[in-house]
Amino acid sequence: MDLEGFKLRLAERVANPLAKSTHADDFKAIVQDTDDAGREAVDHTADLSAHPRSLDDKVKHYRDAISNQSPLLRRTPMPLTGVTSKAVYTLPSADKMPATEKVIVKPYHEKLNPKANFWQHHPIQGWAEMTNQSLWYAADMGHMHQKVHVSEHAMSPLHPKEPGIAIHMDPSAELIRHMGPSQYSIDMHDDLPKIAAMDFLTNNLDRHAANLMFLPKGSVNRDGQPLRSRLLAIDHGRSFQYHASNKGAPRKIHDPLLGTVDVPHDAKVAHETEGKTGDTLLNYVESGALNHVGMLGEMFGRDSIKTGSGLFPPIAKWWPTVRNRIVDAMNQRILSLREPRMQQHIQKNFTERVKLLDNIARNPDWYTYLAQEKDLKVPLHIWDRNEKEEANP
Ligand SMILES: Nc1ncnc2c1ncn2[C@@H]1O[C@H](COP(=O)(O)OP(=O)(O)OP(=O)(O)O)[C@@H](O)[C@H]1O
Ligand SMILES: [Mg+2]
Repeated sequence: MDLEGFKLRLAERVANPLAKSTHADDFKAIVQDTDDAGREAVDHTADLSAHPRSLDDKVKHYRDAISNQSPLLRRTPMPLTGVTSKAVYTLPSADKMPATEKVIVKPYHEKLNPKANFWQHHPIQGWAEMTNQSLWYAADMGHMHQKVHVSEHAMSPLHPKEPGIAIHMDPSAELIRHMGPSQYSIDMHDDLPKIAAMDFLTNNLDRHAANLMFLPKGSVNRDGQPLRSRLLAIDHGRSFQYHASNKGAPRKIHDPLLGTVDVPHDAKVAHETEGKTGDTLLNYVESGALNHVGMLGEMFGRDSIKTGSGLFPPIAKWWPTVRNRIVDAMNQRILSLREPRMQQHIQKNFTERVKLLDNIARNPDWYTYLAQEKDLKVPLHIWDRNEKEEANP
């Protein structure tokens, strides 16, 4: 512990002599990555109870552990990938709880990361993570969403009740690239168009190969049924920005004479401009994670989700069964955003995408056989908090 850490811990002890489960030191990096812009953008209070009721036991267990009740809570050194600061805790064992329940804590009001400034302008990560969870449950896809809740933590004397995102890790989750044919389950293919549709709705540009995991087959579940492997979607905090499409700009191209070269400046600018005016559902089918699972499906003879017939009919069948619940859940979620203009920005883009899925549900065949990419395009309504007017009203 360095001097700064020691001072923080001492100040914390003076402020709260009982505190022993968590230490300000543990949260130093998280506090450094937190800022007030997030507090101004989002009211986190509704999120303290926005998790599904099925997680209540886990949430109580966690809150007991961080509120001095159980000194057994352990900070667990764990090298996790990614850019967001994290602390990992192992919870004490308790009735009904697995003995090694691990929780990743991330900042709720996370500072914007300059690396993502092409598309991330609003500090709404905690809200976005919890909104995804609500929408996935509304979409009957909750079983594939990571288990996440929001709790307040004594992170430092200046952050005595700082909200943090708490992710209850699935201990058996594995990287999607480790899934071979023996772990593939054929019904996973039916989940892919839904995941693409959810990523499109929420403008989740972050579905790279590490943000979709899988839970390998178990032997039997509690009812004696054999367990199938299934997908596990994680890390949704960078969604709902609606500042760019998911069409990744190529950095290098292959030139027949010169070999691999940088994309010419003009082409890059043109591509970025295009990526900031419109978006299509098809962009989300191309994500690294979906590509891997999609390939396995094709090996088992399923239609590629990159073809109209593999993508649109499954969406058309599923969307009307969940559509109103998703829209209702979103209407509820939007109320936690403090700035009316941010509410409008997100609602307007979201609604545009809902309408596109409505069209697909009405005309799956038309989209399957006739649609050009332009028919599937939605405009991106961009609004920057520092700009007075919308760029694409
Ligand atoms: N629910 C989970 N179950 C099991 N492992 C998880 C879970 N959530 C995260 N992990 C592991 O922790 C790693 C980092 O988590 P996560 O993707 O949420 O953070 P990140 O990539 O740093 O986030 P960001 O993209 O915001 O920087 C994941 O790549 C995965 O290995
Ligand atoms: Mg990640």
